[in-house]
Amino acid sequence: MLDPVKVRHFWEGRAATLGQVAFESIANLEQDPDNLRLKIDEESRKVFAWLPALEGLRVLDLGAGVGQWTFRFAQRGAREVVAVEYAHGLVEIGRAEARRRAAGGVRFVESAAEAYQTDRAFDLIFISGLFVYLNDDQARALLQRLPAWLRSDGMLLVRDGTGLGERYEINDRHSEHLGQNYSATYRTREQYIDMMAAHGLHCVRDENMFAEGHPLNKYPQTRLRLYAFSRRGQG
Ligand SMILES: C[S@@+](CC[C@H](N)C(=O)[O-])C[C@H]1O[C@@H](n2cnc3c(N)ncnc32)[C@H](O)[C@@H]1O
Repeated sequence: MLDPVKVRHFWEGRAATLGQVAFESIANLEQDPDNLRLKIDEESRKVFAWLPALEGLRVLDLGAGVGQWTFRFAQRGAREVVAVEYAHGLVEIGRAEARRRAAGGVRFVESAAEAYQTDRAFDLIFISGLFVYLNDDQARALLQRLPAWLRSDGMLLVRDGTGLGERYEINDRHSEHLGQNYSATYRTREQYIDMMAAHGLHCVRDENMFAEGHPLNKYPQTRLRLYAFSRRGQG
């Protein structure tokens, strides 16, 4: 099981990469410039093709990092985007970026996603690259609260690493790409869908982010996958 202390230590350390890697790489960890461009372009095309028009909507971005997606939602007209992130240094970078862009509708909240509290409901909840860093206790704690934050006609969009065939876990293993130890857990597609269904969130659509053979499918054990959930289910 993932050790939350080690995972958090890793993420607290990423703020130190500010100025050394591209803004998006601070949290998305793709440090090769060509791959980063490809990743941003192709992922944005797919994510925004799945989303409704964002004008006037309220968006909650959980595990937002420095807000690379947060700012995209704001640029596309979201009325308000709340970015929840637990690493203090990443929140500071995100807040400075919001000031630099004069992004008035963007608000960063420093909190663990599973401890976030609000009595408001959002049109869109976006979770990108967060579940792979939550152990089962944390994921359960988050999912016990999350449905109350989603409007009954809202969408939960999850973009996260997915184990192929079986759950795949990396525990405190040295990464050459990052030059430090790394931990993550890749639940299977069925595990994501069942875990959400147990909390009243029904999968209405899911697909791998990249087609087979794509250069950004880097590891044979996992795929980045996009899932749309709703409180109502299909129809
Ligand atoms: C892979 S990054 C993804 C960042 C952003 N969502 C994106 O797609 O670019 C994962 C982020 O989740 C944050 N994170 C991990 N566990 C968290 C938790 N329990 N609560 C809040 N944030 C968390 C990390 O600090 C990191 O910024």
